[in-house]
Amino acid sequence: MRSAAHGSLVFETHATRAEAERSVAEEIAALVRAKPDAVLGLATGDTPTGVYRELVRLHRDSGLDFSSVRTFNLDEYCGLAADDPRSFTCWMQTQLFAHVNVDRANTHLPDGRVAEADVVRHAAAYERAIESAGGIDLQLLGIGRNGHIGFNEPGADLHTRTRRVELHAWTRADAAAAFGGLEHVPTRGITMGIGTILAARRVRMLAFGVRKAPLVARTLRAAPDPAWPASYVRLHADARLVVDRDAAP
Ligand code: GLP
Repeated sequence: MRSAAHGSLVFETHATRAEAERSVAEEIAALVRAKPDAVLGLATGDTPTGVYRELVRLHRDSGLDFSSVRTFNLDEYCGLAADDPRSFTCWMQTQLFAHVNVDRANTHLPDGRVAEADVVRHAAAYERAIESAGGIDLQLLGIGRNGHIGFNEPGADLHTRTRRVELHAWTRADAAAAFGGLEHVPTRGITMGIGTILAARRVRMLAFGVRKAPLVARTLRAAPDPAWPASYVRLHADARLVVDRDAAP
């Protein structure tokens, strides 16, 4: 593992994706052991899947205890049925929640089915729930093709909080296969804001594979810039960008 500082952002390159995933899962496990009711900020997409697999293994083989852990996910699509397998809510069940002893009542995702008139109230309640849990201890992040984090698309302001957003054309295009065609991809999502993400005590951004190398390069190069939301992590005092060799620029 090689590590270098880019301002306050620590950039960490691992020989393999598996090694990088183990290192992040180990950090989460250490946090949960030290603070059994830790508050985890979780992400979806292909990127965090190996970290979740490793957490499931630690639960199974070493008894890592999630019974008091609280979780808040970054985002959710608008307009999908509760049991739609393409929702992030279902995805989290399949990838992690169903395989560890987390209390479902302690897992939170924005509700993409909330009525039009209640969106603002729901978003504010999501922020309040994070706050009353004591804030997020560690937030996982991936990077979208256009530099988005969560569903904070290019143009997102530094001070944004949980809110409904229009999804960028590339975000929808990247989800088209999973939805069986672009026309089935929701046009909106509800996402934590940049301000919500940066309020987490630690931020761990992951990127794997050659496809992510130019995105990583831009995240390291860009001064914090709304045109590349991932670059905002450079403003965080305890942020790590963890990549495998293929994603290193
Ligand atoms: C989605 C999610 C993001 C994720 C991004 C990258 O749009 N909302 O949180 O980081 O895609 O996905 P992947 O990890 O599959 O490359």
